[in-house]
Amino acid sequence: MFKNQQIAKDIFYVGVNDRQKHKFENMLPLPYGVSYNSYLITDKKTALIDTVDIAQGDVFIDKIQSQLQGRTLDYLIINHMEPDHSGSIRLIRQYYPEIIIVGNNKTLDMVNGFYGVESNMKEIKDGEILSLGEHKLQFHLTPMVHWPETMMTYEMNNKILFSGDAFGCFGNLDGAVIDKDMDITKYWEEMIRYYANIVGKYGSAVQKALKKLTPLDIEMICSTHGPVWKEYITDVVDMYDKLSRYGTEDGVVIVYGSMYGNTELMAETVAQGVAEAGVKNIIIHNVSKTDSSYILKDIFKYRGLIVGSPTYSNELYPEVESLLRKIEIRGVKNHVFGCFGSFTWASAAVKRLSTFSETMKWKSAEIIVDEKQGLKADNYQGCLELGRQVADLMVNFVEDPAHCV
Ligand code: FEO
Repeated sequence: MFKNQQIAKDIFYVGVNDRQKHKFENMLPLPYGVSYNSYLITDKKTALIDTVDIAQGDVFIDKIQSQLQGRTLDYLIINHMEPDHSGSIRLIRQYYPEIIIVGNNKTLDMVNGFYGVESNMKEIKDGEILSLGEHKLQFHLTPMVHWPETMMTYEMNNKILFSGDAFGCFGNLDGAVIDKDMDITKYWEEMIRYYANIVGKYGSAVQKALKKLTPLDIEMICSTHGPVWKEYITDVVDMYDKLSRYGTEDGVVIVYGSMYGNTELMAETVAQGVAEAGVKNIIIHNVSKTDSSYILKDIFKYRGLIVGSPTYSNELYPEVESLLRKIEIRGVKNHVFGCFGSFTWASAAVKRLSTFSETMKWKSAEIIVDEKQGLKADNYQGCLELGRQVADLMVNFVEDPAHCV
């Protein structure tokens, strides 16, 4: 019944949209949903590239069967084992018991570990080619883009790179699957958010993969999430290159936690100082209101970061602490930092924020504003000055190559 979209000769999109899940990995909001992309090649031999989340298994099988018209499925190529892509392996094996699962040694180990599958497996090496007849598939191991087993599959005839998570983004595919056939506006910010939250820790691995793939002539990128890239390949690759080098734009993100508005008023004042210094991209996030995945997205995007926190039980405000840990885990580089805080009877927050900045090896503003109870005139001026100082540092910042990947 299904009419699958054809993306090249003998190659069909058989992926699905997930419009039901609220949070990806049970953490990251999905306002536009997410697609799990899978591709079917119908040559003398047939091959499926990646599967989909098992929740969509029925539709997935119907799409494959509609395309195969009674033919069998010879190979299942596994570029990435995370269950949003590998979740339907057992289902596929039920329908096609003779199918050969193709992956590298780490993949096949995980196929067994996750799904107890040990037979009909073909281990490939880096650079190895599998012929389906007319179409030839070459495998490129790209470990840690996002997991250790990740690899990419290059279809040599049409110059299509099946890239796994790389170059992927959140957002359903609303009808069309290839970028040239749709308005791609919504995907750019969702690509940065996807990168910052999912792949962000693995910048050096992404850089290695990009260098390794440079010799390939690529006319289409088929990621496991989001549109098939054809018209915007250069933009997408440039985006991943920039993000994985922790490259940033002029702009300041101000993040604060505040229980009763005192630290919030400081954040507003700091922002005014940043604006007075001529910075136009200023984004203020209340850490208790904005989901951290969006805050991380903006931190990956902009060079300046100013964090404010009240002292809470002689520590940072917990929501601020949680965000800092997420930044730390991702090893975010090339940032300019400023901080401020408030306390009622004993100050602790700004000390923690300063230690965080030292840990990150970021350039920090000398001014630190720490207010006891309500904001008063001298610290009001201090907040303005903090904003101006971070803005100046940010505008004059030269990326340290040692801090680039
Ligand atoms: Fe889309 Fe790393 O899984």
